Amino acid sequence: MIKVMTVFGTRPEAIKMAPVVLELKKHTDQLQTIVAVTAQHRQMLDQVLDLFKIEPDYDLDIMSQGQTLYDITTKALLGLKKVLEKEQPDLVLVHGDTTTTFAGALAAYYQQIPVGHVEAGLRTGNIYSPFPEEMNRKLTGAIAAIHFAPTATAKKNLLKENADEEKIYITGNTVIDALMTTIDGSYDFADEELQHVDFKKHRIILLTTHRRENLGEPMRHIYKALRRIIEEIPDTEIVFPVHRNPLVRKVVEEELAGVDRIHLIDPMEYEPFANLMSLSSLVLTDSGGIQEEAPSLGKPVLVLRDTTERPEAVEAGTVRLIGTDKTTVYNETKRLLTDKAAYNTMSMAVNPYGDGHASQRIVQAIMHVFFGTQRRPEDFYL
Ligand code: UD1
Ligand code: UDP
Repeated sequence: MIKVMTVFGTRPEAIKMAPVVLELKKHTDQLQTIVAVTAQHRQMLDQVLDLFKIEPDYDLDIMSQGQTLYDITTKALLGLKKVLEKEQPDLVLVHGDTTTTFAGALAAYYQQIPVGHVEAGLRTGNIYSPFPEEMNRKLTGAIAAIHFAPTATAKKNLLKENADEEKIYITGNTVIDALMTTIDGSYDFADEELQHVDFKKHRIILLTTHRRENLGEPMRHIYKALRRIIEEIPDTEIVFPVHRNPLVRKVVEEELAGVDRIHLIDPMEYEPFANLMSLSSLVLTDSGGIQEEAPSLGKPVLVLRDTTERPEAVEAGTVRLIGTDKTTVYNETKRLLTDKAAYNTMSMAVNPYGDGHASQRIVQAIMHVFFGTQRRPEDFYL
């Protein structure tokens, strides 16, 4: 019997770790599963915990309004110190590239507890883009004893940094596991504002923005460009679930509040959000997770960033990296709304990120490493 502790703290980590927690819990004869959340996010984390019915064993409740990277790192590190001292797990699992991820890996390392890194090996090669995620995932990768790389490209990135090939498993991304259990195709949205969207006659643009490097002027540019689109093209509407970061909300309010056919709403629960994605024509986002989900639903994605650590869907032709320049955002969005051929080229469904079985591979790999009884899982390949 081994004790596996999962540590996560933000919405995307929760969405992507939930299938792993549920899979770990299927093996109670061999695995004891402990869930520790930092709650770097509060409301946005709780929405996901409720959906997947996960009750954390430990909740550090660290979030504060306008928190800095220093606040998150120190509070998570000190909080996890106590939890790890008490539980002494055999393995700590962290996910991706948030500050919780890095603090979780470091806290485990300080007690010489091995770390498994889920969604390992994503890289842009630029430590300031995305900031601080590129450094968080590099540092976590340096600490990790087992790397769960979602794709062959991610494995290659790890090999370039001299990770031990034996310890790298290509699993697919667990976000596709989560998505596949969530889409039902026919969703009645509870949000009052969404009752005003004409899903039948209008084309829906789904928008999300939250990256730290886009705060301020880059976001203002994006919003100005999209406002112009909505004013010029009458059969379009924007649905924008606005991140709770007050710095995001301020610019959104200044640029988009009160505009006809632009619907500003609170962050949505994952289930309606995933269904909304599948009803949209087009997605504009700076999110990592949405870049992985939308292609599998056949939705073109314009990525509002200068770099991406997810090149697979760009190569497949369903995602374009367009940055945040006002004219470029306007032109690229307009092109997809007015040029049918351009739209069709980008709207085929591709699934470079997973097949829905990533969590099973991860748990099988853990049992393979610790018990040697299970065979090594087959890698996920396209
Ligand atoms: C964090 C991660 C980022 C990830 C993103 C997912 C870091 C440094 N950043 O960025 O990698 O892509 O989450 O969304 O780890 N807030 C609330 N309620 C919530 C969540 C956030 O009020 O449920 C507000 C708080 O004022 C908080 C602020 O948003 O201080 C920013 O949250 P924070 O976790 O610091 O940064 P994100 O931009 O969310
Ligand atoms: N998401 C959600 N509700 C929303 C917006 C996004 O559930 O209102 C989900 C989305 O489907 C994806 C994840 O949140 O799985 C992405 O989170 P975010 O964009 O905050 O972070 P990132 O992936 O960039 O780290």
